[in-house]
Amino acid sequence: MNKPKVLITRRWTESVETKLRDLYDVTLNETDRPLRTDEFKAALQNYDVVCPTVCDSFPADVLNVENKRCKILANFGVGYNHIDIEAAKANGLIVTNTPNVLTQSTADIAMTLLLMTARRGAEGDRLVRANKWSGWCPTSMLSSNVTGATLGLIGFGRIGQAMARKAHYGFDMNIIYFNPSAVDEYVIQDLNAKRCNTVEELLQQADFVSLHCPAGANTKHLINAETLKFMKPTAHLINTARGDVVDSQALIDALKSKQIAGAGLDVYENEPNIHEGFLELENVTLLPHLGSATLETRTAMGEKVLANLAAYFAGETLPDRVV
Ligand code: DGY
Repeated sequence: MNKPKVLITRRWTESVETKLRDLYDVTLNETDRPLRTDEFKAALQNYDVVCPTVCDSFPADVLNVENKRCKILANFGVGYNHIDIEAAKANGLIVTNTPNVLTQSTADIAMTLLLMTARRGAEGDRLVRANKWSGWCPTSMLSSNVTGATLGLIGFGRIGQAMARKAHYGFDMNIIYFNPSAVDEYVIQDLNAKRCNTVEELLQQADFVSLHCPAGANTKHLINAETLKFMKPTAHLINTARGDVVDSQALIDALKSKQIAGAGLDVYENEPNIHEGFLELENVTLLPHLGSATLETRTAMGEKVLANLAAYFAGETLPDRVV
């Protein structure tokens, strides 16, 4: 019997690519070049499985292409806002993702950004590299305490809770959160976490605000010119969720006018073409979407895709089915 035809849109870690080669008639992307829209359409017509990742866009006009052979989009990544889920459903396509395995590495990056923006880490590094450091002095590069400060989490699911745990147990931070649905009582008690009824209530109290909500119509530009006004002038915003949750121009204006103290960003609107306004600001730390970028995590994400495909071809329940 012929092996199923599988397309992997970008490079994956070596051990996972080796397994894919053994199991499937797989096309790998050896050069790691981002594929174009017409190539995605052709992939849906010519492969049984397409494995996109967070930087590949699958809007309705791609998914509606005629004469599809593909039955399943096995996404490499937990977020799937790059796939039009309604169009996938309408086309009878199965979509899977890779939850759980990137929780800790993404929370680690959120904590990294919190520390960097609070303690002006990136700015200090730039100063030293530019050979502009004139030596220690009692009032140079003063920043804000992290230990004992209040961390507000918008979105209190797996990654938000992991971040809260690191902050609470590692840095003695007070935890407050906003989450539309109920949160496990054990988690709340363990972290002594206080619920806020609105985003605005959280923004008023937090010294650090960290975003962990999914992208979607109801979270698009949740942080905007109006909501930013609720933050303390000493507060910092951390975004490791999705760029669309923050109105970039509004954040740039708030950072420029010192309406808030700083921000640490790992994700952006329109990645990788980030708003140029960020580049000239000292009080923003910019990382290139590193949340899940450890060898262990990226391999675990690939293994998740393999597990979803194995279940699909065995006719079993898919472990991480989105639709
Ligand atoms: C995801 O999986 O959605 C992450 O953003 C990748 O780091």
